[in-house]
Amino acid sequence: MGKEEPQPRSLTIQNINPNVKEAKYAVRGELAIKSEEYRTKIAKGEGKDLPFESVISANIGNPQQLDQKPITFFRQVTSLLENPLLLEKEDVLINGLGYKKDVIERAHTLLKDVKSVGAYSQSQGAPGIRESVAKFIEERDGHSADPKNIYLCGGASAGVNALMNVICASPETGILVPIPQYPLYTATLALLNAKVVPYYLEEQSGWSTDVPGIREALSNARKEGIDVRAVVVINPGNPTGGSLSADNIASVIELAAEEKLVVLADEVYQTNVFEGKFHSFKKGLRDLQTSDKNKEGKFDNVELASLHSISKGMVGECGHRGGYYEMVGFDEEVVAQIYKFVSIMLCPPVIGQCLVELMVNPPKEGEPSYAQYKEEYDGIFKDLHTRAMALYKAFQEMEGVECQYPQGSMYLYPTIKLSDKAIEAAKKANKGADEMYCMELLDATGICIVPGSGFGQKEGTLHFRTTFLAPGTDWVSRITAFHGKFMDKYR
Ligand SMILES: Cc1ncc(COP(=O)(O)O)c(C=O)c1O
Repeated sequence: MGKEEPQPRSLTIQNINPNVKEAKYAVRGELAIKSEEYRTKIAKGEGKDLPFESVISANIGNPQQLDQKPITFFRQVTSLLENPLLLEKEDVLINGLGYKKDVIERAHTLLKDVKSVGAYSQSQGAPGIRESVAKFIEERDGHSADPKNIYLCGGASAGVNALMNVICASPETGILVPIPQYPLYTATLALLNAKVVPYYLEEQSGWSTDVPGIREALSNARKEGIDVRAVVVINPGNPTGGSLSADNIASVIELAAEEKLVVLADEVYQTNVFEGKFHSFKKGLRDLQTSDKNKEGKFDNVELASLHSISKGMVGECGHRGGYYEMVGFDEEVVAQIYKFVSIMLCPPVIGQCLVELMVNPPKEGEPSYAQYKEEYDGIFKDLHTRAMALYKAFQEMEGVECQYPQGSMYLYPTIKLSDKAIEAAKKANKGADEMYCMELLDATGICIVPGSGFGQKEGTLHFRTTFLAPGTDWVSRITAFHGKFMDKYR
């Protein structure tokens, strides 16, 4: 026997944290990496052999990468926060650059609160910004909110990470996660070596939350000895685009009260709603707490953490990393541990915190920047809706594709029915049929979307998720043309 080679390094793929290897995050997986390679090739002028001239990243909800313009008011204020010396040249700002008085006033107010965007803030976020968030929630829901319960965070992802770290105590801890879901949830649970307890959303009713289905998933998991502690709800949905009704939300809260589950309400798409109105979990909870249904205090101790973000909606400032979560009903000792957990990271990015403030407290009617703000905001909303509808229409005309009516968020998640021949070909290539479809679409058109397997889907069904953020509709016809050829190829 030969001598064993000494390891040249400390770390090998065998000895690193196995939980990291276990975690999956398809929205930035193999397809996304290949699409970036195509993009680089085209940028270097080396893409002449490719059957397309541009790459469309429809795989990720990254609005400004896809040409969504930042809101002027937000960027004017942040420019002053980054370079406060400009505030000494008010005349130039107003007469030379067209900054309005309220931009300058807001920069002063925020600087008073944070001192400098280059300084650490309180771990929970700057106090004045948390006050603005609480006011926003009060106005949105018609129920009071306390700045003490607001935690600013570096994007909703950081909030989910903090909450899950504290909730997950052992490999037997389980969290109910909707399927399909945004893979942050399953990936974080994998990192924490805790259990995903899946519950399936109802595709045929616009991807609503099926509460009896959650009860069944919960009871099966408990029978297996899993200590289920929380239920995640994503509303409006990613990848589904569904938007939940007030009744649906009330029944989830009822379940949480009866089964002692923390509700993690991911509401990052709350302004991306095309059909009806957004209903927050916080309002749902407070409505129940103040209703006859609460005579015996059934809802008094429901633990709810609801998350919002600057990444989505008409703000689209995801590169700045900002968000918040509001926690109500939690035990004070638990909250103290959450506080300690976030303190270890010192504080969320301060410029991101300031953007949270601008998002929750935008220019109001009668203020100098209002007209431009409203025009930009409404313009983005209208464009998103138009593109969602164009894509939906195209899907309706495509053979074997069925898509729920777009209600909200930034995505459509149609079902695709592929032939046995296509499914066989995928098996031979050691791929899922949805993955093969998405790979062939990328190679033929430069459009990057994500196979349903990245979000979860009912056994025997196939889906893909696409954003509708890319400008124009030319890329929609690229998908339609590809689809026809793909179906013919495997007929
Ligand atoms: C449902 C959902 N939650 C959270 C996030 C992460 O948001 P953030 O950029 O605020 O971390 C995303 C991003 O796509 C999302 O879709």
